Amino acid sequence: ATPSVCETPRMAREITKIGVIGLGTMGAGIVEVCARSGFEVVGIEMNAEAVERGRGHLENSTGRAVSRGKMTEEDQKTLLGRVTTTDDMSALADCGLVIEAVPERLDIKRDVFGKLDDIVAEDAILATNTSSLSVTDIATATRYPSRVVGFHFFNPAPVQKLVEIIATVITAPDVLDDVRAIAARLGKEPVIVGDQAGFIANRLLLAYLNRAVVMYENKYASREDIDAAMVLGCGLPMGPLALLDLIGLDVAYAVLDTIYKEGRDKLHAPAPMLKHMISAGLLGRKTGRGFYTYEKPGSGTVV
Ligand code: 3HC
Repeated sequence: ATPSVCETPRMAREITKIGVIGLGTMGAGIVEVCARSGFEVVGIEMNAEAVERGRGHLENSTGRAVSRGKMTEEDQKTLLGRVTTTDDMSALADCGLVIEAVPERLDIKRDVFGKLDDIVAEDAILATNTSSLSVTDIATATRYPSRVVGFHFFNPAPVQKLVEIIATVITAPDVLDDVRAIAARLGKEPVIVGDQAGFIANRLLLAYLNRAVVMYENKYASREDIDAAMVLGCGLPMGPLALLDLIGLDVAYAVLDTIYKEGRDKLHAPAPMLKHMISAGLLGRKTGRGFYTYEKPGSGTVV
């Protein structure tokens, strides 16, 4: 019988433990999403200091939920208890799904996927949270590229409902089905998309954000007025320059650059100002300053 659309899809694999590689803004958010849904999670970073920082993101984010009365301290403790963080990749050995969220560079991602081959089981699913790189190019770094899929979350990962699932020409149908089932268990709404730079959301969103930077760069309007126009005039939750600060200017640049190189549509040619701000270390909220200045790195409070 045809399953009803509301039914949570059944999984070919029984996945109880998820690995997340990279505990930056997105990776730590993904760890939180998985742990909130009851999965055991192994979070990997490259050294003890980065592990500590990643754990800190998780503690801050869940601590905020406690202070807002959205989570009890007991639940926070249970959630944190489901998460192991380490710099030892062999801890991923019994994960049925590994989600990679390392910096947006093909060489780094391919290196991670190449290493995973010798660590995880042959039928474990390997997912990349890439925003714009070719999932196929990442998949071919492994011995079994058919078990590789794109699983793209949005910032902040614990809040945004969407996940883009990227199927390559070689992704196995059962892998796709299982990732859909995981998305449902994580309380996310999946859309399925082919392997083209930027997928659906970033392809549309980043062109618009890039135009906002050009406007600001040309002194066409102030940052506050550009943002107010889109929030108050178009009903968006935040203006484009504030959103770039949330995403991270380095991430936005990398996404634009990849999409531009694929399609050569000048809408995606990164605004020069983005590059200048990145060189100056103004990456947005994570460094405490981007288009706006924040109380401290990682904070969303503008001073
Ligand atoms: N982590 C966890 N939870 C968070 C959070 C974070 N970083 N930031 C906000 N939240 C939660 C709050 O706890 C709150 O939860 P509650 O309703 O249960 O109390 C809820 O989100 C709303 O937060 P606030 O009241 O503090 O603030 P806002 O209502 O202004 O919402 C926002 C903040 C969720 C960031 C909202 O402004 C928004 O959705 N902005 C647009 C973000 C967006 O477009 N993201 C996509 C970027 S593109 C991308 O990520 C792709 C990548 O590849 C580049």
